[in-house]
Amino acid sequence: MKQDLIAILDLGSENNSALARKIRDMGVYSEIYPHDITKAELEAMPNLKGVILNGGKNNVVDGVKIDVNADIYSLNVPFVAYDFEQAKCEQSCECALEDFLFAKAGCEKNWNMENFIADAVEQLKAQIGDNKVLLALSGGVDSSVVAALLMKAIGKNLVCVHVNHGLLRKGEPEQVVRVFREEMGATLIYVDAVDRFLDKLAGVADPEKKRKIIGEEFIRVFEEEADKLEGISFLGQGTIYPDIVESGTKTVKVVKSHHNVGGLPEKFNFQLVEPLKYLFKDEVRACGKALGLPDSMVYRQPFPGPGLGVRCCGAITRDRLEAVRESDAILREEFANAGLEGKVWQYFTLIPDTKSVGVKDNARAFEYPVVIRAVNTIDAMTASIECIEYPLLQKIVNRIITEVKGVNRVCYDLTPKPTGTIEWE
Ligand code: XMP
Repeated sequence: MKQDLIAILDLGSENNSALARKIRDMGVYSEIYPHDITKAELEAMPNLKGVILNGGKNNVVDGVKIDVNADIYSLNVPFVAYDFEQAKCEQSCECALEDFLFAKAGCEKNWNMENFIADAVEQLKAQIGDNKVLLALSGGVDSSVVAALLMKAIGKNLVCVHVNHGLLRKGEPEQVVRVFREEMGATLIYVDAVDRFLDKLAGVADPEKKRKIIGEEFIRVFEEEADKLEGISFLGQGTIYPDIVESGTKTVKVVKSHHNVGGLPEKFNFQLVEPLKYLFKDEVRACGKALGLPDSMVYRQPFPGPGLGVRCCGAITRDRLEAVRESDAILREEFANAGLEGKVWQYFTLIPDTKSVGVKDNARAFEYPVVIRAVNTIDAMTASIECIEYPLLQKIVNRIITEVKGVNRVCYDLTPKPTGTIEWE
């Protein structure tokens, strides 16, 4: 192992994640564990250099005082009791943390992406051996980085399945195939399930029903592909640290013992491989970049699981789906040209299912409008509007009304969240 480890034991603090981030920012790798971890479990960590008891409000959770297993105090590494809430205000506490990490625990500043990847590859090889891993590769940041990391560790024993449900953005399925199959040489099963999904969704206007159909159909397609394969023992998952660490500790156990597998097939009895489960989102991106993934994949803006399915409002039709895909591609291209890529949190177009009267080529055109949405947010719970400069807006509008079939009008949604959600459905 190339990285030293500091274990943070959660004794009811609401700032475990922030403390872990702070220690990593100081160049030392750290992970959060439940307060009742055993001595044996800690002893099994070969690179453990120190333990921090992160107590928050006097180690009290829901009115009950909690403490660690007494026998861990006989471990052969230094301990410190800490309160990150206090440390944020007091310089002396920060110095104490530095003193603990480097003077008492003797840590080296060896947490970096190169070392993380080397350690992860070593662990993955040990965990997987000569077995095969199946991975649902959506093309999203997390699944793409998992795929790149597993390729490095086990090469051809990784089997990726990319399901094209017809609701991805323009160029995305092609990019997944190009990057993973052609450039990285991965075993990639590409499933063209476009007709199957669109047939299932025909006539369904309720957004929640659409979400349910897309989610269930995805599992079915994936199951069918898995059924055709032999000798698979593991299922790769793009779980990341915020998925498993609950912020704002309400219960004593911060680290969930069993992470939800996201509804993927239970019947297969696969073991899980989750190589990103200790990384924060920006670290996942850095990992992807270090593994050579293109920026367009690594810095991809958030995209909902049901994809364009919830941006083609009401019952999905192929013509409106194409119109939303084309207009979204124009918006993204113009944002990139204007240097806004990565600067605006989320931007996209959507298409309502109402027509309006317009004029095209001197004739009445009863066609659809396209709506532009561009928002900034920290946690997607609230969002503010990105003020797109007028000349850019004008260029985007002109391109959409001239290049996208069936569209005669473009609107710019200026509603913050609340009251409007980011998506319309
Ligand atoms: P709303 O519309 O609720 O969106 O303000 C907040 C964020 O969540 C994304 N979103 C989804 N992501 N499955 C997802 O994986 C979904 O069904 C879904 N609905 C919304 C949305 O794009 C925004 O980033």
